[in-house]
Amino acid sequence: MAKEHPHIVIAIDGPAASGKSSVARVLARKLHYVYVNTGAMYRAVTWLAIEKGVPPVDAVRVQQLLHYTEVTCGVRDGESTILLDGVDPADHLVSEAVNSNVSAIATLPDVRRLLTQKQRAFAFDYDVVMEGRDIGSAVFPETRYKFYVDASPEVRAQRRARQGLQDSIAARDKVDSSRRTSPLTIAEDAHVIDSSNLTVEGVVGEIFGRLKQKGLPLGEL
Ligand code: DC
Repeated sequence: MAKEHPHIVIAIDGPAASGKSSVARVLARKLHYVYVNTGAMYRAVTWLAIEKGVPPVDAVRVQQLLHYTEVTCGVRDGESTILLDGVDPADHLVSEAVNSNVSAIATLPDVRRLLTQKQRAFAFDYDVVMEGRDIGSAVFPETRYKFYVDASPEVRAQRRARQGLQDSIAARDKVDSSRRTSPLTIAEDAHVIDSSNLTVEGVVGEIFGRLKQKGLPLGEL
């Protein structure tokens, strides 16, 4: 069980291209919370492995690589950042190579342990909207504010295509949902939202309604 943390955590989980990133970013901006994109953290480690010629399926070598790499998380302009030995990989995170290898990296328990620690550390300093696959189920199981944003496979495929990205989301979802450690799952107490026929604002509105019901002080919003 995660340690108690002094700040508010809004967990937003869901499969690839469900719209959760846009929703989480808008929500964080409105609330003046920090937006934490945990997928970017798994993508950053994937990029590092590819850069260094380490096969993403080789648990031992990936672990060695991380042991010798300084992983620094921070916040810039209200959003999470990650640096690897001082290098910001942001421009490389949605490449085809990263898309097709990130699920393999995300199955490795040592990688998950390290990134989970970093994710929890954000909530020691900031109120956060954190998006991912296991935020409500494994990273912050104790938070009262959990959402699972979904959309039909057709809508999700269309969204990725519109972004002009090569991404086999069905294959990624399969690996993400079936891995042993912290698989993509709907936390028991999560509020599920089907975003297939909703705009980003529509989903954010539904989340706001729910947060109010749960007594989160939202001021004038
Ligand atoms: O959200 P995304 O598509 O950028 O995430 C990329 C991959 O990272 C996703 O396929 C699975 C993994 N991931 C994870 O395992 N746990 C998280 N909390 C976030 C992402």
